[in-house]
Amino acid sequence: MEFSHKEGQTLALTVSYLIDESLPLVSNLANLSRALFDGFKNVSWAGFYLANEEGNTLYLGPYQGPLACTVIPFSKGVCGYSATNKRSVLVDNVHTFEGHIACSSSTNSELVAPILKNDKVLGVIDLDSNELSNFTKEDAKILEEIALIIAKLFP
Ligand code: SME
Repeated sequence: MEFSHKEGQTLALTVSYLIDESLPLVSNLANLSRALFDGFKNVSWAGFYLANEEGNTLYLGPYQGPLACTVIPFSKGVCGYSATNKRSVLVDNVHTFEGHIACSSSTNSELVAPILKNDKVLGVIDLDSNELSNFTKEDAKILEEIALIIAKLFP
């Protein structure tokens, strides 16, 4: 299947076109991880961590990129910080973020947005880059918008 993100089409719109609600969640997330990988510039890792029922641990979900940590407590890392605080986190230099979990030593910046439904954290979307300060506040807004769309897929 040809990736359908077109010049001038917002990534959020591309995401909504890619979603097929008749499919299992994992199938949608798998394709969306690639859409996110391709949709933002200089991405080295793009994917999902999904929250457990208790809402205290994130587990690795579909992604594109090098092998990654499989379990992240809400108390750890940029992903945990985003889940705990229920807000997106933009990190220009991961080496200065206390508690950052280095899944890959080449990662320099990161953007994480929580997936929320009825104020409950269902997971996070994580984007990594080998470039410093790769992601912008505008990217954070776009990722938050995408997280809202993706939240609708969860039961
Ligand atoms: N760096 C993340 C962990 C996940 S990997 O980047 C894929 C963190 O600090 O939460």
